Amino acid sequence: MRILISGICGFVGSWLARGLREAEPTWEIFGFDNFVREGSEVNRAALREMGIKVHHADLRAASDLEALPAANVVIDAAANPSVLAGVDGKSSSRQLLEHNLGGTINLLEYCRRHSVAFLLLSTSRVYSVPGMSAVPVRVQGQRLVPEIRECVTGLSERGFAEDFSTVPPLSLYGSSKLASEILALEYGSVFQFPVWINRCGVLAGAGQFGRADQGIYSFWLHSWKARRPLRYLGFGGHGHQVRDALHPLDLIPLLRKQIAATTHTGERITNVAGGVANSMSLAELSAWAEDRWGPHEVIRDGTERPFDLPWIVLDSTRVQETWGWSVQTPLTKILEEIAQHAETHPHWLSLTGG
Ligand SMILES: NC(=O)c1ccc[n+]([C@@H]2O[C@H](COP(=O)([O-])OP(=O)(O)OC[C@H]3O[C@@H](n4cnc5c(N)ncnc54)[C@H](O)[C@@H]3O)[C@@H](O)[C@H]2O)c1
Repeated sequence: MRILISGICGFVGSWLARGLREAEPTWEIFGFDNFVREGSEVNRAALREMGIKVHHADLRAASDLEALPAANVVIDAAANPSVLAGVDGKSSSRQLLEHNLGGTINLLEYCRRHSVAFLLLSTSRVYSVPGMSAVPVRVQGQRLVPEIRECVTGLSERGFAEDFSTVPPLSLYGSSKLASEILALEYGSVFQFPVWINRCGVLAGAGQFGRADQGIYSFWLHSWKARRPLRYLGFGGHGHQVRDALHPLDLIPLLRKQIAATTHTGERITNVAGGVANSMSLAELSAWAEDRWGPHEVIRDGTERPFDLPWIVLDSTRVQETWGWSVQTPLTKILEEIAQHAETHPHWLSLTGG
């Protein structure tokens, strides 16, 4: 089996490459990256030492992909993954779409040419921002919890399910991923290759590159340890907003099953996320950090930001039923892993664009 991973030197791509190498030592794992993400360079040597070939290629350049060897399966882990991308002044909207949507098209052309399966890492950000904002929430201890009084399709106390609204606005990032999903399903159907779409919530673990808008758990703990300024933004400045978290290695058993499936059985779009049990608010995360490293001031700043949401937890019931998948790594273990990384890499944030 030959597995091609795009964005292989990114946070998720590199974890998946290492995880698959360990789970399936006889498989050939290779991939490519254009190293646009600050910090991705640090993974190149370690992957090579594991016998994983890393090509330097840009998803936006069709000719770069034409030069790559054939694989049996493509895992797409290359994107600009920030919900503020294209509107934050750091990247233009065109750049975002060229990476996230144009890049998917080039990968789908690769899959068509070689007749190989396509696994897309998608996101909770495909769900409607007004829809998710409209969920009533109340404060319970240090966090917000949903107060579901009426029936809304795809919403329960377990989180947002796959049939929750995807009507824009979603953010440019979310729209680029939703459009990628649609094109992937279309290509798979027209050109007869398997397509699996995994909508992930927050993925978290050691080695995540440091930015608040992408990788909040890692950013927060590294910042606390380094006594860098931190802010509770929006929602009254209390830090009660909640996210679930999943370790990227928890995706491995699912990906192995999807790779082994040669025909489509069951659902092709599934949420794969930490869920309620693996969720936390920023204020709870601060309490965890304070326990470990002592106090650090967090500035309360109620300024609202575009696309910010009080409670994002995904309901992964469908993937449990379809693939027998479940969360393996509890949130406490993820936090411990990140904390140890922060203790051994005190300059991580400045090395990785934080
Ligand atoms: N991290 C999360 O919480 C999360 C959650 C849901 C979905 N995802 C998805 O997982 C994937 C990986 O996210 P991540 O957190 O590892 O991001 P990341 O920024 O750490 O990694 C992305 C990698 O892709 C590379 N890349 C970007 N554009 C490229 C291009 N044009 N050509 C070649 N390489 C390119 C970057 O250099 C980087 O190494 C993304 O598709 C993202 O949408 C991530």
